[in-house]
Amino acid sequence: MELTQLTYQGFPCIGYGSESTLYRVDEHLVAKVPLPHCPIENLDHEFSLGNLLCEAGISAPRMEGIFEMIFSSGRKPALVMQYVPGSKVSDLTNPNLKAHAIALLKAERSKAIDYGFFMKDVGFDNGIYLPREDKVVLVDFISWQKEGHDCPGCPRERIK
Ligand SMILES: Nc1ncnc2c1ncn2[C@@H]1O[C@H](COP(=O)(O)OP(=O)(O)O)[C@@H](O)[C@H]1O
Ligand SMILES: [Mg+2]
Ligand SMILES: [Zn+2]
Repeated sequence: MELTQLTYQGFPCIGYGSESTLYRVDEHLVAKVPLPHCPIENLDHEFSLGNLLCEAGISAPRMEGIFEMIFSSGRKPALVMQYVPGSKVSDLTNPNLKAHAIALLKAERSKAIDYGFFMKDVGFDNGIYLPREDKVVLVDFISWQKEGHDCPGCPRERIK
C-alpha cells in the first residue's frame, strides 16, 4: 500500500498514551504515532472504527487517513485525525465538573455499546471534555471491537 508522506517539522507533542505519541500537525489535525511494536493494521482498525462511530452519530474525532511520517530517524505510520480541543476527562481538577464529564463519557460509551461496539473497561484518559459544547469526545479505539466488523488489525482476543 502506498502511503501519503508527511515530513515531521517539529510538531508539538500534545499527548502521550501508553502505546503512542500524539503530534499536533496543524490547527485542525493531530497525528497518532504508535510505539514501534504496533503493526500498521492496528491503525487501519482504529481508522475504521473511528469512521463507524462517526457514522453512528457517536462523538469521535473525524478520521483523515493513515500517513507515513518521515522523521530524521526513520519513517513511522501515523493515524491523522481531527484535533479535539479540550481536556482529558482524567485531567479535570474540579470534582463536580469531573463527575459530570465522567457521566457524559459513560453515556457516550453506552450509546456505542447499543450500536454494537464493545470495549474493555477503558480509562477516563480516553475521553476529551469540551466545555463550550458540554460534551465528551471518545478517543483511542485500538482495543475496541464491533459486531460485524472484522479486519486484520482487529484485537485478536475477542472481548465477548
Ligand atoms: N483527536 C485528538 N485530539 C486531541 N487529543 C487527542 C486526540 N486523540 C488522542 N488525544 C490525546 O492523546 C492521548 C493519547 O492518545 P490515545 O489515542 O489514547 O493513545 P494510546 O493508544 O497510546 O493510549 C489521549 O489520552 C488524549 O489526551
Ligand atoms: Mg489511550
Ligand atoms: Zn478491525
